[in-house]
Amino acid sequence: MQIYNDYNLLHHNTFGIDARCRKFVEYASTEDAQQLVKALTKADEPLLLLGGGSNLLLTGDYPGTVLHSAILGREVVRETPEAVWLRCGSGETFDDIVAYAVAHSWYGAENLSLIPGEVGASAVQNIGAYGAEACDLIDTVEAVEIATGRVVTIAASDCGYSYRQSKFKHEWRDQYLITHVTYRFNKIFNPRLDYGNIRAALEEKGIRVPTAGQLRDTIIEIRRRKLPDPKDYGNAGSFFMNPIVPEETYQRLLKDYPDMPHYVMKGVDGEADRYKIPAGWMIEQCGWKGRSLGRAGVYSKQALVLVNLGGATGEEVVRLCHTVQQAVKDKFGIDIYPEVNIR
Ligand code: EPU
Repeated sequence: MQIYNDYNLLHHNTFGIDARCRKFVEYASTEDAQQLVKALTKADEPLLLLGGGSNLLLTGDYPGTVLHSAILGREVVRETPEAVWLRCGSGETFDDIVAYAVAHSWYGAENLSLIPGEVGASAVQNIGAYGAEACDLIDTVEAVEIATGRVVTIAASDCGYSYRQSKFKHEWRDQYLITHVTYRFNKIFNPRLDYGNIRAALEEKGIRVPTAGQLRDTIIEIRRRKLPDPKDYGNAGSFFMNPIVPEETYQRLLKDYPDMPHYVMKGVDGEADRYKIPAGWMIEQCGWKGRSLGRAGVYSKQALVLVNLGGATGEEVVRLCHTVQQAVKDKFGIDIYPEVNIR
């Protein structure tokens, strides 16, 4: 276990906010995590459970303790003719796991290529892209309960997964240190090509039926075209979640915006269909794409992404966030909410 006092978090948040925390603790095994939670006292609070810091906006110095997993390792724990189960340390870089799976001809993660962040966070945030979500792959999550030091194994079906949501973000918030995630990969390749411009991007390269490697490469190219590299502009990917609205709201919007992009979310068990409206599109319609407020800006190639134009404080980004939220509310009558963890 590594413990640092008065620690600078600049290299632990992709927004590039220059902030410090009172204490920073890194744990490298389940036993380490157990020891750590037993040693925590009231004086260490508030706690911040940090992954790769790619979905975090720090609004100032953090007054408590930041806990970070440095648990590495990947191990096949089960295999059948159809599938393989890979148990990964929560501190592994998620995209390294995607690359590893593709290289071994284990399928299902290609569309999640190049998402920044670590394995532990994939299970908290239910990261997603191009029609796929982490919960499609997650089999179990292992964690240490902070209150008791108990090791638990939680089935994905009990984690309450939905679009960018899980119980780890709500009723279980800050209660577990995730130590391992087991992903289930398919041995049969069933590419998902229906989202947005994947097919078109493949066809540009003369590919009709891609291999998993070609699909991964194409997803990487699409992301690089649209999303800023934190080395150029600090950012946390999509800043807002796409709102999901009922039929009547969708119909009301459609009257004014017949070309509005949208995804139908099929209702399950007889529930009505709902509609996901891209917040990036709404922000662009409001005229905010490429604009800035102080040193915080709306990215010029993807309006869902807020960027640090250089030396922005967390407060400046929050001010831009509120301004954009209000603009969308005024024009569309819809509330949009950050997906980024603001602390
Ligand atoms: N759009 C605009 N203007 C913009 C941005 C988007 O008109 O400035 C339109 C696009 O033309 C398209 C639609 O909005 O019709 C959707 O855009 P895009 O495919 O780029 O995806 P998104 O809804 O903006 C979501 C995820 C991304 C993920 C992409 C691809 C969320 C919050 N974001 O963005 O995830 O990569 O889909 O699947 O759901 C992230 O979470 O950090 C992230 C990058």
